[in-house]
Amino acid sequence: MPVIEVKGLRFRYEGSEAWSLDGVDLEVSEGELVLVVGPTGSGKSTLLRAVVGLIPHFYRGDYQGSVRVCGLDVAETPVHVIATKVGMVFQNPETQLFSTTVEAEVAFPLENLGVPRDEMLARVEEALRATGMAELRKKNPAELSGGQKQRLAIASIIAMRPEVLLLDEPTSMLDPVSAQEILEFVVGYCRSEGKTMLVSEHRLDLLVPVVDRIVVFSEGRIAFDGSPQHFFLRHTGAEFGIKPPRVPEVYHRAVAASGSGGCERVPLTAGELVELVSSGDP
Ligand SMILES: Nc1ncnc2c1ncn2[C@@H]1O[C@H](COP(=O)(O)OP(=O)(O)OP(=O)(O)O)[C@@H](O)[C@H]1O
Ligand SMILES: [Mg+2]
Repeated sequence: MPVIEVKGLRFRYEGSEAWSLDGVDLEVSEGELVLVVGPTGSGKSTLLRAVVGLIPHFYRGDYQGSVRVCGLDVAETPVHVIATKVGMVFQNPETQLFSTTVEAEVAFPLENLGVPRDEMLARVEEALRATGMAELRKKNPAELSGGQKQRLAIASIIAMRPEVLLLDEPTSMLDPVSAQEILEFVVGYCRSEGKTMLVSEHRLDLLVPVVDRIVVFSEGRIAFDGSPQHFFLRHTGAEFGIKPPRVPEVYHRAVAASGSGGCERVPLTAGELVELVSSGDP
């Protein structure tokens, strides 16, 4: 049984004329890491909101089709119950921070879940260390930088140990080095714990080589759903209004310049590109 099952989903925000999601079908299996991409306004955040239940419980509008997560019908399940299965890091972390200290921010949802005190302290400690926030534990979240707020939001959901992690542009406020660090951590965490992840991210270079699938949104619909290998063999991303990651882009340019038909596999990492060039293939 898939962990996430979206069938014929259409959603139109109250007061809008257009459907922000216009017939979305998506199945995600346990342990899969899925990268969600697409131009601004294509529906990425709206999909994630529908998976965590903010749509239809918080955002009003016209809702058709169904979303099931871990066997629960999202439209018929209270948000606090879905929150025990699904953790989401919002595109704007400001909107999800409300405690007076960093450690309280991570501890509070665990208290709500009834996690015993010793275990709660251990989980808070682990999550703060993993995200590089341990030294800032006594700080007020309101005083943190944008990047630190993003780390804190990630720490909070990791401590909850949900089965599904939804990350909506989790590194938009981080510098490239911190972004890499945090994405490597989250990907490693999901792999080692067998968690399922949906991540919307503009920094494709870091994620394309490590995810199982890419789902491309265009005007509220899924324009492509398949492996990164499959996608970049035929596309650079530019066709869909996505900024192409560097390695496949260089490869496509080289193939075009050489006039050859290209290879059977497209390199996705710098290492694979070097290997391909030194093999003298195309
Ligand atoms: N709260 C809202 N109320 C009304 N319309 C909204 C709301 N949020 C998003 N929309 C509209 O829904 C459509 C999809 O928006 P969404 O935020 O899901 O796109 P996105 O792919 O996440 O874009 P971005 O890359 O800019 O984050 C857009 O037309 C947007 O204007
Ligand atoms: Mg968005």
